[in-house]
Amino acid sequence: MKINVVGSGYVGTTLAASLAELGHEVTAIDIDEDVVDALNAGTSPVHEPGLDDLVAANAGTTLTATTSYDSVSDATVTFLAIQTPSREDGSIDTAPLEAAAEMMGEALADTNDRHLVVVKSTVVPPALPDIAKAIETGLGEPLATDTDGRVAFGMNPEFLREGTAVTDFMHPDKLVFGADTEWAINQLQEVFHPLLNQHEPAVITTDPATASMIKYANNAFLAAKISLINDLGNICKEFGLDAYEIADAIGLDDRIGEQFLRSGLGWGGSCFPKDTNALIAAAKAAGYTPAVLKAAVEVNNHQPERLLALLERHVEVEGSRIAILGLAFKPGTDDIRNSRAIPVIEGLHERNANVVAFDPVATDNMRKQFPGLEYADSAAAAIERADAALIVTDWNEFESLGEEFRQMDSPIVIDGRNGITPTSGMTYEGLTW
Ligand code: UDX
Repeated sequence: MKINVVGSGYVGTTLAASLAELGHEVTAIDIDEDVVDALNAGTSPVHEPGLDDLVAANAGTTLTATTSYDSVSDATVTFLAIQTPSREDGSIDTAPLEAAAEMMGEALADTNDRHLVVVKSTVVPPALPDIAKAIETGLGEPLATDTDGRVAFGMNPEFLREGTAVTDFMHPDKLVFGADTEWAINQLQEVFHPLLNQHEPAVITTDPATASMIKYANNAFLAAKISLINDLGNICKEFGLDAYEIADAIGLDDRIGEQFLRSGLGWGGSCFPKDTNALIAAAKAAGYTPAVLKAAVEVNNHQPERLLALLERHVEVEGSRIAILGLAFKPGTDDIRNSRAIPVIEGLHERNANVVAFDPVATDNMRKQFPGLEYADSAAAAIERADAALIVTDWNEFESLGEEFRQMDSPIVIDGRNGITPTSGMTYEGLTW
C-alpha cells in the first residue's frame, strides 16, 4: 500500500519506518530539510531504540522522504503526525496540524482517486472538526460520507512509550480505528493487516472523536493511577509504612493490576503531563471541571516538594552540595521533557544549594535548559563530595552504587524512585516508603 506520513517527529518517524518495515511504500513529508535529508540518508532524526536500524534498512527502498506535498497524491492513505504544542493554559495549539491538513487537502484536490487522511497526532475530540474542515478547505469539496465524496477522514491514536516505541508499534495490545465511513475503516485494516495477522491485537472500530477520547482516557487513567498510588504513598510515609509493600499486595487484585503502581516523584514525559492538561482545558471549555484529573495533576506537581522537604529533615540545604542522580523523565531515554528533575533542580536553586547532576544519557539535554549547573561524568563523581544525594530517575546502574555512597563523608540518600537498596552506614529515606 502507498502511504504518506506527514511530520517526522518521534511519532511520525516511528510510524513511517515501521510501516515501511511491514512492507508498505511510505513517503515521509516534513517541512524541515535537515530531517528529510537525514531520513533519505538512512538515519532517524529522533533518538529511539531500534528506530535507526529500521530507517537504515528501508531508506531508499520502501521509505523515502520529501519536503513537498506535490508528488504524494498517488498514495491511498496519509497519516498526519504533526506536533500539537501546549499553550500556557494547557490547551493544545492545533494550528500547525491544521496547516498541514489544508496542504494535504490541496495536494489531493487535483487527483481522482479515493484517499484517506488519518489524524495520528493526539487531538482533543472537540478540535477534530477543525482538522477535518482544514482538509475540506484545501480540497475545495466536502469530505467523504458512506455514499458520497472521495477523500475520507479518520483518527488512529498511538499508544507508544518512549524507549520501546518500535516494539510497542510491532506488538500492540489494541488498535483503535476511528472513521465515519466503511471504506476508511477498511483502509486502516489494510494498513495494519500485517500486525493483525501476526499478533491478533484487539481492534476497536469507532468514530474519530471516540478514537481520540480513548487515547486521552487511556493516558488520564494511567496518570491518575500513579497519582493515586502517590497520594496513598504519601499517607504511608506519614504513617511510617512502606507503600511498595502495600502496592505489591493491592496489585494482586485483577481489578487493580500490578502495573503503574510505583509511587515516588511522579510522572513526566511528553504525554501524561501534556495530555492530562489538554483534557482538563478542553473539558473546562466545554463547561465541566474534572476534579479527579485536576487532583492527579496537583499530586504530581507536589511530589518534588515533598522530596525536598524530606531532604531538609536531614541536611541544612542552603550552601550544601546536593547530588542529583538521574535527569531523564524515566530510565531508558534521554528525554527530559517535564522530567521531575526540573522542579527538583529549581527547588534546590531556590534553597541556595550547590547542585551537581548526573545522568547516563540525558545530561546534554538538561545542559541546554540549565547551562550553569555542574554536571558530573559519572554517578560516583557526582556523589563523591556531596552532602546528600537524591535519586530522581530509577536507572538500573544506580542500584550498584553501595561502595560509592560509602565514600561520602556521611552518606545521606533521599530516594524519589525506590531506585536503590540501602546499605549499612547510610542514612536512607524513601519518598513513600
Ligand atoms: C506514556 C504512555 O505509557 C503511552 O501509552 C503514551 O502513548 C505516551 O505516554 P511514556 O511517556 O513514554 O508513555 O512513559 P511511561 O513509561 O508510560 O511513563 C510515564 C511516566 O510515569 C514516567 O515519568 C514514569 O517515571 C512515571 N511512572 C510510570 C511512575 O511514576 N510510576 C509508575 O508506576 C509508572
